[in-house]
Amino acid sequence: MPPTVFSPDRPALVRRLRAAGCVFAEDEADLLIAAATDSTEALTDLVDRRVAGLPLEHLLGWAEFCGLRVAVDPGVFVPRGRTALLVAAAAAVAGPAPAVLDLCCGSGAAALVLHGRLAPRWLAAADVDPAAVACARRNLAPLGVPVYQGDLFAPLPVRWRGRLDLVVANAPYVPSGAVAMLPAEARLHEAPVALDGGADGLAVLRRVAAGAAQWLAPGGHLAVEVSAGQAGALCGIMADAGLDPFVVHDDDLEATAVTARLPG
Ligand SMILES: C[S@@+](CC[C@H](N)C(=O)[O-])C[C@H]1O[C@@H](n2cnc3c(N)ncnc32)[C@H](O)[C@@H]1O
Repeated sequence: MPPTVFSPDRPALVRRLRAAGCVFAEDEADLLIAAATDSTEALTDLVDRRVAGLPLEHLLGWAEFCGLRVAVDPGVFVPRGRTALLVAAAAAVAGPAPAVLDLCCGSGAAALVLHGRLAPRWLAAADVDPAAVACARRNLAPLGVPVYQGDLFAPLPVRWRGRLDLVVANAPYVPSGAVAMLPAEARLHEAPVALDGGADGLAVLRRVAAGAAQWLAPGGHLAVEVSAGQAGALCGIMADAGLDPFVVHDDDLEATAVTARLPG
């Protein structure tokens, strides 16, 4: 039997994606056609699953983040464009040859970008979710960056306690009561542990701040992402933990980050 010719009907595909609510239907169509690697069956399957609501990045197996292609496995948090502000704010406060931790690393996207932007003498990542850890290892092992699994700072080698220059943490910060209002792509296809930040959204960040005060070197920095409305309360939490906070905001990215220095 002669091989089937792969000639996707792009306009029809775009219409179907648009009808399903995909805002960037043309771009998505091109990405899905490329991902289908010359197979009509594969393309049909990808489009069916996209129309059913799976995140594009989970279907492709990667996300674009700060100009890099980051592998993203099913269930793992898809790195968001707004987190570019957190990475930039963290890089801006890092000194020369810093020891850096990407805490709550998810896919390891922040560590991947910081590896290229800084010249860290030590860089590691950590997450509590085994799926995220496996995904981050896929992204970071080629760079020799270790990824630890466990609750916040607990799995880290103790020799780094009090010696880290930079802790970057895009921890979950959605208040529990607001998780149900998130877009279905996040609510249904990303792990709850990646989203739910407790009653006020700051439960994990409270523990991150307390831990950072123990694990940072004097003069080191914590950098975290938060919503604009939470920044004031978070600054209070950081000050209580002995850190000096500073808020940065980017209107275009609709992003807020807080950097906090451990005096010394
Ligand atoms: C909002 S996602 C961010 C992932 C990644 N930093 C990014 O920006 O793409 C939050 C991540 O925090 C992790 N996490 C939540 N609670 C944690 C904890 N107690 N210890 C370590 N990681 C945690 C989740 O598994 C998830 O991967």
